[in-house]
Amino acid sequence: MNLRKRIFSGVQPSGNLHIGNYLGAIANWVKLQDEFESIFCVVDMHAITVPQDPETLRKKTIEIAKIYLAAGIDPKKSSIFIQSQVSEHAELMWILNTIAKMPELEKMTQFKDKTQKGGSEGAAVGLFDYPVLMAADILLYGTEVVPVGEDQKQHVELARDLAKRFNQKFGETFIIPKAFIKEEGMLAGRSFGVGGRVMGLDNPEKKMSKSAESVYNRIELLDDEETIRRKIKKAVTDSGSEIIYSDDKPALKNLINIYAAFSEKSPKEIEKLYVGRGYGDFKTELAEVIIGFLKPFQEKFNALSEEEVLKILADGAAKVRPIAKAKLDEVKGKVGFIV
Ligand code: TYM
Repeated sequence: MNLRKRIFSGVQPSGNLHIGNYLGAIANWVKLQDEFESIFCVVDMHAITVPQDPETLRKKTIEIAKIYLAAGIDPKKSSIFIQSQVSEHAELMWILNTIAKMPELEKMTQFKDKTQKGGSEGAAVGLFDYPVLMAADILLYGTEVVPVGEDQKQHVELARDLAKRFNQKFGETFIIPKAFIKEEGMLAGRSFGVGGRVMGLDNPEKKMSKSAESVYNRIELLDDEETIRRKIKKAVTDSGSEIIYSDDKPALKNLINIYAAFSEKSPKEIEKLYVGRGYGDFKTELAEVIIGFLKPFQEKFNALSEEEVLKILADGAAKVRPIAKAKLDEVKGKVGFIV
């Protein structure tokens, strides 16, 4: 019998994954998979809450799985699967929908952000309901720990609230999950880093995002060397010319954090390295540090065939389906369905 605590997390196959997704989430999964029973999902059902081109969605789903593998998720240690291949997620979501409250979902900042431009009139009901599907993902597996970036904290809180409410109403059923968000200064097992929030290169006030309009917001995991150099060159910096790690210089602080995360140097060491040298040298070398990490990652990514990835995903689904089915049957029985 497996007594290790379980972790669950996922990424949406929409847009291009960036170093924020890697540093905030995937890098931590790679570490945690040795300690926890780990389940990592490609959440395609979440992706269709905004319009997706079907062929692109298919390609992106496989791309995300390849990124997991290239980053070091080991299918011998962890289960990797596609959300839509385990229909229990949608079924549990429906039941959770009947205990989730409208105001709980109305206060979700991600929904507010995503509907800021067009207003909620044009938004799909699924976009509004998205956090309940995420709660179903988490609760279905008796998840104890959910390793995510800072922006997902509110969604994990909702999963906790729904689990407690269900347990209260129908008796002990769900484990109450906890979000695991790396604090600044302890990223991916390295001593210093960015924590759960990597900021945009074009605006240090906003997080780096797959859906930001400008590509100069982010370094994508599959960017080529020249693109990385160009993007780092264009990254906004603060006034002054010295390389100083400080809250007064949020743009530079973000760049130093990224440097630290990929170089295993502390911000203090990086400051020292650039005494008497300016932004030019710092940025040139930061780009090389990122390239030094991404090159071997991309080589692994490119060596993976679609065939082998589909096989790993099918095996993953087969492994997790019985866990999901057992929990869903328990839930159905509790609410009075005939199982
Ligand atoms: P998604 O696809 O938007 O992002 C994937 C992961 O990357 C983290 N992340 C960041 N971390 C640090 N800095 C950033 N700038 C940054 N941007 C993104 C996110 O926090 C996330 O961990 N709803 C989720 C997917 C999901 C999920 C789940 C996660 C669906 N079901 C169940 C955990 C458990 C999402 O949209 O992530």
